[in-house]
Amino acid sequence: MLSLGILGSGKGSNARSVLEAIRAGRLDARAACVISDAAGSGILDLARTHGVPAFHVDGAPFRTKLDGAAEDRVLGLLREHGADTVVLAGFMRMIKGGLLKAFPGRVLNIHPALLPAFPGIEAWKQALAAGVRETGCTVHFVDEGMDTGPIILQRRVPVLPGDTPESLHARIQEQEHIAYPEALALLAAGRVSLQAGKVIRL
Ligand code: GRF
Repeated sequence: MLSLGILGSGKGSNARSVLEAIRAGRLDARAACVISDAAGSGILDLARTHGVPAFHVDGAPFRTKLDGAAEDRVLGLLREHGADTVVLAGFMRMIKGGLLKAFPGRVLNIHPALLPAFPGIEAWKQALAAGVRETGCTVHFVDEGMDTGPIILQRRVPVLPGDTPESLHARIQEQEHIAYPEALALLAAGRVSLQAGKVIRL
């Protein structure tokens, strides 16, 4: 059984899909704790609703990375609550070496595009601006780069005529909510793992 430390900064819809999959018995895992760098974020309320220990960690003085004292605090909380796998669910900071070393091959992220296309922020807007006819979402292992880690799985989404950033993002999120529990279930079952920087599938 996986023991998940979930990190997020936003409303937490992906975290919800993971917690619901656990509840429904579709994912052999427990939620060890939820940590957010944004004090009033929905993901913290969601965790409390599900009875999962929830913590705000102030990320200052850095805006875009998890480093220094904030990284130490996150590591401390993850250890204290027995997490063995780190689930980035809309966490808006880059993860640095300390956390990656502490959880080798056990840090996952979900990204709202078919990586390697459109890494970085607001990937659905990037897809619209590029005029592609298809985009989607990607679950991947995290490395030191920005959305560059080895891919576990992807789900595709059409870009439809008249799509707005909001309508496209909503369609991608529907698929994210299937993809993340699915990828975690593969990890829980030992059917996917990261070895020497490569995804191994059984
Ligand atoms: C998702 O679109 C995810 O792909 C990206 O951030 C967003 C988080 O949304 N990394 P939510 O907080 O899970 O609803």
